[in-house]
Amino acid sequence: MTTPVQAREMGRSLSRVEGRAKVTGTAPYAYEFPVLDPLYVYPVQATIARGRIIAVDASAATALDGVVTVLTHENAPRLASDADSELWVLQSEEVSYRGEIVGAVLAETSEIARHGAELVRVEYAEQPHDVELRVDRDDLYTPKVLNAGYAPDTDQGDVEEALRSAAVTLDETYSTPFEHNNPMEPHASIAQWTDDGLTMYDSTQGPSRVRTALAEVFGVDPAKVRVISPYVGGGFGSKGSPHPHNVLVGLAAKVARGRPVKFAATRQQMFSFLGYRTPTIQRIRLGADSDGHLTAIVHDVVELTAKVKEFAEQTATPTRMMYASPNRRTSHRLAALDLPVPAWMRAPGVTPGMYAFEVAMDELALRCGLDPVELRIRNEPEVDPQTGRPWSSRNLLACLREGARRFEWEGRDPTPAVRWHGDWLVGTGVASSRYPVHLLPGSAASIGLGADGRYDVSIAAADIGTGAWTVLAQIAADALEVPLEGVNLRIGDSELPPGSVAGGSSGTSSWGSTIVAAAEAFRTKYGDRPETGADVTVDMPQNPNLAKYAMDTFGAQFAQVRVHPGTGEVRVDRMLGVFAAGRILNPRTARSQLIGGMTMGISMALYEDSVLDPRFGHIVNHDFATYHIAANADIGDVDAIWVEEDDPYVNPMGAKGIGEVGISGTAAAVANAIYHATGIRRRDLPLTPDKLM
Ligand code: MOS
Repeated sequence: MTTPVQAREMGRSLSRVEGRAKVTGTAPYAYEFPVLDPLYVYPVQATIARGRIIAVDASAATALDGVVTVLTHENAPRLASDADSELWVLQSEEVSYRGEIVGAVLAETSEIARHGAELVRVEYAEQPHDVELRVDRDDLYTPKVLNAGYAPDTDQGDVEEALRSAAVTLDETYSTPFEHNNPMEPHASIAQWTDDGLTMYDSTQGPSRVRTALAEVFGVDPAKVRVISPYVGGGFGSKGSPHPHNVLVGLAAKVARGRPVKFAATRQQMFSFLGYRTPTIQRIRLGADSDGHLTAIVHDVVELTAKVKEFAEQTATPTRMMYASPNRRTSHRLAALDLPVPAWMRAPGVTPGMYAFEVAMDELALRCGLDPVELRIRNEPEVDPQTGRPWSSRNLLACLREGARRFEWEGRDPTPAVRWHGDWLVGTGVASSRYPVHLLPGSAASIGLGADGRYDVSIAAADIGTGAWTVLAQIAADALEVPLEGVNLRIGDSELPPGSVAGGSSGTSSWGSTIVAAAEAFRTKYGDRPETGADVTVDMPQNPNLAKYAMDTFGAQFAQVRVHPGTGEVRVDRMLGVFAAGRILNPRTARSQLIGGMTMGISMALYEDSVLDPRFGHIVNHDFATYHIAANADIGDVDAIWVEEDDPYVNPMGAKGIGEVGISGTAAAVANAIYHATGIRRRDLPLTPDKLM
């Protein structure tokens, strides 16, 4: 690993460097790039969940003034590779889920394209579909590997024997619903084919990844594909990998004779083919001795995937390492259903898994007669329970203690349903947070000295609203030992050296490590007096510490809620998150990430619930009127702070990821506070008013 970087710009609380461009409307999102004489494409979506297309009547659409053509599986250009079955768009008569793209209208305006799509008649041979997740299905199966490479099952010691002899036990089932990623900017792309190949302006978390996928699916040299995404209005994982619209707009551009083609998903389409979080059913069994030391942990997860492509969420993985226990078992079973492909949504697996496990810990604390903070302190492991490795740094207890102090937790009466504030019952809850440190491979960075005396620092990173433009410039400045103004950062374009995806809270670590290595190589090569035009390109270095240490970001979240027993309404009046994430590179953007995660966690606890109609296989509440995401009025006083943490092993910046840890454990803290307020322990999210009256 490269040597640690001295912090000068790092650690400063800077506003986002593109902030002015953002608020003055001069930072274009994908759909807003000025292109000449564009066409517009609008998809026709399947109205059955499984079957075959037997006929398409596009005559009414084709007859519409302004319609250029109607694409179907019969006339769409052929794709080169079905290696990613999710991207095999308009290539076959098979229908694999309701809402699948089965046709598209290309037209002179977006309104005509949309109108045309409504006129396309598709006739199907419908087959029975299967969309219901239940634990008693006899076809649940064990995936070979979970998302991010985790093993599906683990088994240490003898959990059954430990449960039989435990002084205190718990056996409860928790469930979480379908949830849909809804960044403010929906998925959007503009595609254009020229003699040079394909150019796509895309709202993505990873321009390099989209380029690779498009090159494969269209069968062209990656050098002939360029993906441009300098500004992205959120993603939350749904833009971490390409989805069918990327291929659709590319196909449409192929028949557009050189004209650019624009696509922007409607909010309704965000609920169909653009990713979602799988629902989960999680059975947790715990055993503890009379002092509250865990002797057995069992976490068995049932969740779903799509028949068309497997995605196995890593739900029980935090349970493998949070607390000490000599006996532990975790498992993941999947039902493969006729549904769109589930995908990443902020802290995939960790979010639903930590919800269930951290509520179970709260329940266990009550059964042991222990304070829930104290129960967690008593079960602090000395080393990572699953690998036996020491942590590069682990400050969960510091977070719990600092949070308890600031939240005035001491002396809390655990008795539920006894505190009133006017007509409202009041309660407090706590939960731990944790998200792993990920370092994604595949990045490279170049540094060159420009004629203006500034350093051009280039990497195809993505800023999805997180602050990467700012924080990477801070890192580059310190690595090059120049002030921030001495750096000209270039990101968000696949023409630059490749960047890994802005996912898994890995961006700053992965891209930052690469930039630091490039700066070191530059200085080694050119010394103190480089000349204009001097440049280097360097691949991301390996970090040998990854094999020696367990690395995680930790935190503790405290919530105070009010519940009206007459209406079941919940208000989260106060929430405090205390995190340990190594060096905080920019307190302002870091705090925004953390309270953003916490806000999304409150939303998960109370509101978010995509309701599937099993008769048809689609999500019914596919808009913001009926799928409620926490708005300003729903959020009280939310704050995030951090404890000092010096981690020399994690990367040369000493910084851990913070994009996802903020949502880890949040829903549990809220649910635990609701129990404390009301005495009602509902284990099925979201905790809507009907469940609390
Ligand atoms: Mo995050 S769900 O890993 O983009």
